Amino acid sequence: MLLDLFVISDQIYPMTNSFALIDPFGRHVNYLRVSVTDRCDFRCVYCMAEDMTFLPRADLLSLEELDRVCSTFIHQGVKKLRLTGGEPLVRKGIMTLVESLSRHLKSGALEELTLTTNGSQLAKHAADLVKHGVKRINVSVDTLDPVKFKQITRWGDLAKVLAGIEVAQAAGLHIKINAVALKGVNEHEIPSMIRWCHGRNMDLTLIETMPLGDIDGDRTDQYLPLSVVRAQLMDQFTLIDNPYKTGGPARYVTIKETGGRLGFITPLTHNFCESCNRVRLTCTGTLFMCLGQEDAADLRAPLRASESDDLLHRTIDEAISRKPKGHDFIIDRAHNKPAVTRHMSVTGG
Ligand code: 5AD
Ligand code: SF4
Repeated sequence: MLLDLFVISDQIYPMTNSFALIDPFGRHVNYLRVSVTDRCDFRCVYCMAEDMTFLPRADLLSLEELDRVCSTFIHQGVKKLRLTGGEPLVRKGIMTLVESLSRHLKSGALEELTLTTNGSQLAKHAADLVKHGVKRINVSVDTLDPVKFKQITRWGDLAKVLAGIEVAQAAGLHIKINAVALKGVNEHEIPSMIRWCHGRNMDLTLIETMPLGDIDGDRTDQYLPLSVVRAQLMDQFTLIDNPYKTGGPARYVTIKETGGRLGFITPLTHNFCESCNRVRLTCTGTLFMCLGQEDAADLRAPLRASESDDLLHRTIDEAISRKPKGHDFIIDRAHNKPAVTRHMSVTGG
């Protein structure tokens, strides 16, 4: 039989359907999120304890190795790649990785290269991101009150983040703001955040806190179901369902009064796992097939075992064949332990 062949990083692969990453539930995995570092210059109260032990630097994949793993995924059908962390922009040399990955945008193999950032280093990097083909980014801002911002992030400076957003918009980046809904903290600020974002041509997405890793406090005190937020918003706004999709788990509405989009990411009140299309790679080369489960596959050993990508390719296929059906997050008084021990900053938000 004659097979079409194509060349990837000096390897020749047959063009067969075995390339597509299809999991046991028939879901097509075409979205890879990569935590390029578990470190961060903030310590958000729902994400980290103040005193964190980070992964040893010696265990990190090099930027070249990260490129190799990402490229293998792209050759196996991944169309969307998101760099996350920790804070991706604190990883030394990160723009080298962005630049090298941009070749897949140019070739058309990759449809979107994006990142999730806390915005603290955005002013410095925005122009380079645009230069390397990044079009949209997510910036996490949970409040517009500088005092509350400091309380939530412990170490962050709101003015610096807002300045970064301005520079990024001026450079031509589309920005979506992510805000974790926190009971009694930003709960009553959500309407003003909607007006602020929509007035600046930015979407806003609200996220329910997920029970990932030990934090200093009790998550039951923080957890604000978005079903409650939605009901409260309906007193002031008209919410119109919007079929808009970004490849992520958010469900959107248009706010009639502002004309802007509001997304809801509801891992607790509405499980969206049935349409899950993503897997997550840590900065040490561990692949998590689900944010909320412990099962993982080590990609670092096969990556380092051979110069050819065949073994890596097979290990990825095998990992996808174990992708679980979904997470089982619960937050209430009886379940106030994390669903998994690792923090969001390890697996990538
Ligand atoms: N639950 C929900 N969202 C979280 N984030 C970090 N930790 C958690 C958590 N435990 C968010 C960040 C950021 C995105 C990457 O994930 O605020 O918006
Ligand atoms: Fe850093 Fe993001 Fe975690 Fe905050 S939520 S500590 S900004 S990784």
